[in-house]
Amino acid sequence: MRQHRVAYLPGDGIGPEVCAVARRCVDAAGVSLGFEVSWDDRPVGGAAIDAVGQALPPDTLDACRAADAVLLGAVGGPQWDDPSAATRPEDALLGLRSGLELFANLRPVVAHAALDAASPLRPEIRAGADILIVRELTGGLYFGRPQGRSTQDGVEAAVDTLRYTRPEIERIVELAFELAEGRRSQLTSVDKANVLASSRLWREVVDEVAPRHASVTVEHALVDSTAYLILTQPAQYDVIVTENLFGDILSDEAAAIAGSLGLLASASLGARSTAIGRFGMYEPVHGSAPGIAGQGLANPLATVGSAALMLRWSLGETEAAEAVESAVDAAIADGPRTGDLGGSDGTEAVAGFLLARLTQPVQVPA
Ligand code: NAD
Ligand code: IPM
Ligand code: MN
Repeated sequence: MRQHRVAYLPGDGIGPEVCAVARRCVDAAGVSLGFEVSWDDRPVGGAAIDAVGQALPPDTLDACRAADAVLLGAVGGPQWDDPSAATRPEDALLGLRSGLELFANLRPVVAHAALDAASPLRPEIRAGADILIVRELTGGLYFGRPQGRSTQDGVEAAVDTLRYTRPEIERIVELAFELAEGRRSQLTSVDKANVLASSRLWREVVDEVAPRHASVTVEHALVDSTAYLILTQPAQYDVIVTENLFGDILSDEAAAIAGSLGLLASASLGARSTAIGRFGMYEPVHGSAPGIAGQGLANPLATVGSAALMLRWSLGETEAAEAVESAVDAAIADGPRTGDLGGSDGTEAVAGFLLARLTQPVQVPA
């Protein structure tokens, strides 16, 4: 029996509800396909602040380092939102991303025809959209220093710093080109080069990396018009590569193409390999959705989709990844619908639908 070790960080709000479904799906796939996951359950975010006073306890980070992959729910919520608080749940995410050196965040967005009614876009506009957003995850405004507040001559100010080094840009752009080669070979690099120095360096590096990937057509685009075009002509995009904050914003916006934030999965990858694959952290794009937390209403598909990415990228369980993805596709095609998709079904109805598929005995032709 193949054994895998996954650090399990459910976090806050709907995080524990959606993670539990993903975990059951992976376990079910393991029973059918001959592997077992040992889940190392650890506190993170607001739950960890309440338990031990730190958003990312050192033991949690160590457990992640010792695992083949990390499955994370979400962190944050109004009870930890005091702007003067010394620690915030969100610090845990940044600590995990930098501490585990996960510089690349892959966020796939697909428009399924079955969800035409859930998307605010007209069917003919979203038809065929299939985008991979590659978001830089350990640089830019999230990590640049100086950062913080000060008062000079009685005037209060706050500063964030948008800084990128050439190697930081090069490694994410290189990966984006490689990913484009495995898809439709079209890369859009999104920046704000008409204003920002960091974007002009970004552009320069993209142009330097491009000749190493001659089969890929690359275009540069400005982030403001891309925010418009991604909703008006979503089908024209294949792979989009962009800096940290632009990627954060564009990916939530792109969820409208899919139909809901509750559908978007993500994989965060770095350079580190494990014995069986590439070490990574897997989490839905959405947050802790405090407004619906604890009510069994959350859509678990984004987290289940993230677990499928984990099976493929980090655990080397390709067949299980395909089984979980096909269960998610079936749920999207004609399964229960949670509120975010316009339905009135609960998390457990979706879980039941997925598990029924994943525990079906393998069909042997007569
Ligand atoms: P959110 O993503 O939590 O919610 C945005 C909207 O989408 C809400 O209406 C919510 O109900 C809905 N939604 C999100 N996921 C859903 C799901 N699976 N099923 C059904 N509906 C869903 O964003 P927010 O409200 O801006 O942030 C809430 C908290 O989450 C904040 O504290 C924020 O910092 C945190 N956050 C955490 C992460 C993360 O842990 N990766 C990501 C984003 C936001
Ligand atoms: C995300 C979230 C995080 C981010 C927050 C919660 C720190 O919005 O994963 O997209 O901005 O990266
Ligand atoms: Mn975000």
